[in-house]
Amino acid sequence: MQKVRKAVIPAAGLGTRVLPATKAMPKEMLPIVDKPAIQYIVEEAAASGIEEILIITNRGKSIIEDHFDYAPELEMNLQANTAKHDLLAESVKTAKLANIYFIRQKETKGLGHAIHCAKEFIGNEPFAVLYGDDVIMGENPVCAQLIHAYETFGKGAVGVKEVSREAIRQYSSLKLSPLEQNYYHCTDMIEKPAPGEEFSLFSILGRCVLPPEIFAILAETKPGAGGEIQLTDAMRELARTTGMTAVDFDGIRYDMGNKLGIMQANVETALKHPQIGADFREYLKNIAKTL
Ligand code: UTP
Repeated sequence: MQKVRKAVIPAAGLGTRVLPATKAMPKEMLPIVDKPAIQYIVEEAAASGIEEILIITNRGKSIIEDHFDYAPELEMNLQANTAKHDLLAESVKTAKLANIYFIRQKETKGLGHAIHCAKEFIGNEPFAVLYGDDVIMGENPVCAQLIHAYETFGKGAVGVKEVSREAIRQYSSLKLSPLEQNYYHCTDMIEKPAPGEEFSLFSILGRCVLPPEIFAILAETKPGAGGEIQLTDAMRELARTTGMTAVDFDGIRYDMGNKLGIMQANVETALKHPQIGADFREYLKNIAKTL
């Protein structure tokens, strides 16, 4: 079994659900308290043993590259002030998390098309995909949970959760049978099912580990829901032929692609924050009394 060493983070979407914030600012750079969403995702990949990360960007997202680079002027300034050495360490840390590479998706043709842009980078090995707007927090990094499933069952793995009947219209729906513990065997799936088309309320949320065979399938995948080349449509081929493993993962997932998800991520993270957690809790309690 080949080791999973590489990951792809697609971050080339238009982020229309978060306009106007995302007009000039990539949604992946929106902060959760004091760290951009994409940093949580890169940290999850690094904590899962990933060595090489390809971030798929597009025009106007070069600040993502700046964030994972050194910032000499800022860092010289912080270096000169001993009281600011903690901040210096934080700033430098982002440049050292992993080997990070960038490529541009030149046209926004969908998530499947974005992943296809990673073909040369990945070559002939399995890889993880961490969607750039899905932040998942927890003790045990979800990417590592999926790599474990890939290594245990020898099939592509998807991270899943049960969602509401209303939410499933926006996501994917999976045909599953139980394997053991939190693992399921997946034999079919559909993207954005119309009422009555869903297989179950289990949906893929933000993470998968794929074999390199996915690229040949993506090359043939026609535009699907919303006129976009859907990764789900390519994974459906894998599910129908070799089968995939669905992992009901351990972790809290925040959808940074919509305004409510962004606020939930911020409130819950602020409550746990070492610097502002206690004050924020008091503030929130007072606000709650007025509601
Ligand atoms: P979404 O469909 O949630 O992103 O894609 P979006 O297109 O930005 O959303 P809207 O405009 O608010 O509806 C899921 C992930 O796939 C990436 C996005 O950046 C996000 O991380 N993506 C999507 C691409 O990289 N390229 C694409 O062409 C589409």
